[in-house]
Amino acid sequence: MHRIAICPGSYDPVTLGHLDVIARSSALADEVVVAILHNPDKAGTFPVEQRMEFIRSATRHLSGVRVEEYAGCLLVDVAKEIGATLIVKGLRGETDYAYEQPMALMNRHLTGIETVFLPGDPRYSQVSSSLIKQVVSLGGDVSGLVTEDVRLALEALRD
Ligand code: PNS
Repeated sequence: MHRIAICPGSYDPVTLGHLDVIARSSALADEVVVAILHNPDKAGTFPVEQRMEFIRSATRHLSGVRVEEYAGCLLVDVAKEIGATLIVKGLRGETDYAYEQPMALMNRHLTGIETVFLPGDPRYSQVSSSLIKQVVSLGGDVSGLVTEDVRLALEALRD
């Protein structure tokens, strides 16, 4: 059986925490689709094309990983369309679990698809796209938490 996993998110922008989960997902499935979806609760910072490019250049070394955008769709419909049988998400801690659990249950309710949670690497427990953006906008250094091209793009937004 050819197993396809989907790693959904806003990825605005991708962090090393996300990239760790994507790399670990690729060990669990034959193919991983990194799906950039719309989160109605978040305003976008980077255009989707740029978010995709950040992820593509950071995952070139991983076979079977592709990056796609799905605008205006339910995640479960995307999963069905591409034949994914698994949603993979990283959890940094209890707050993430509280946020992710209703979505995982709703997605299972809608189509039966299961979500697998991977414990986030403790090196990135403090890393979220929104915190990274705030730190850079106020002059902080996020080296080692995002890729260099993401760091430079964030600094360019600030300067
Ligand atoms: O990185 P994020 O912002 O936490 O990702 C959330 C995302 C984009 C995965 C979630 O908002 C989502 O699945 N959006 C697609 C629309 C959808 O399926 N909504 C119902 C979720 S139960």
